[in-house]
Amino acid sequence: MKPYVVTIDGPSGSGKGSLALRLAKELGFHILDSGAIYRLAALHAINKQISLEDEQQVLNSLEDLDIHFESGDELIIPFLNGEDVSLQIRSEEAGGAASMVASYPLIRTHLLTIQRDFFQPPGLVADGRDMGTVVFPDAKIKIYLHASAEIRAKRRYNQLINMGLSANIADLLEEIEARDERDRNRAISPLVPASDALIVDCSMMDRDQVFDLMMEHIKDQQ
Ligand code: DC
Repeated sequence: MKPYVVTIDGPSGSGKGSLALRLAKELGFHILDSGAIYRLAALHAINKQISLEDEQQVLNSLEDLDIHFESGDELIIPFLNGEDVSLQIRSEEAGGAASMVASYPLIRTHLLTIQRDFFQPPGLVADGRDMGTVVFPDAKIKIYLHASAEIRAKRRYNQLINMGLSANIADLLEEIEARDERDRNRAISPLVPASDALIVDCSMMDRDQVFDLMMEHIKDQQ
């Protein structure tokens, strides 16, 4: 079969990351976690002590950006300049910096080729915010995963509690709503479903149900 791309876009906490991993494994495809690319770019600029306020300087700092991913059992391990940075890129600091870097048009354009290069035979599952609209507009299968802010806050709350951390559901909800607002209203590559995407509200579904439904959809399209 001709290699093809499956895109999964959606807001943070919608479960697209774990769905993408599972689909990629099932299909034997490569995987692109585009959020991790923005996090790595931000971390690289931070390591070089570049001011993140200066779009041009951040762009210049990416000249020697050296990233790759290795497959672990249940996750993908990100490497920056040969170093495993799994922990660093998940920090609050990297998340905030990634969000800033991701708002710059020059950076988004620069990172386009890097993201598109992930599309290699036999195919790719790409997750992010603009996979189906900007990065892979010709993707064969486009999915937009939605879940209500309340459900996403609850899932995050349970995650934190299970990790032994304290959390406040009202604060989490506020954060999620603020992030949604920023993602949906930014001038470049806002978070919107592609016109040809299948929109799935997974608020009332568990991970297995979402996975089964998506596999069915993919098979139907073949
Ligand atoms: O999905 P994430 O939290 O790892 O993403 C990190 C940041 O990058 C977040 O602010 C959204 C942004 N992002 C983006 O603008 N476009 C993408 N395709 C993926 C992530």
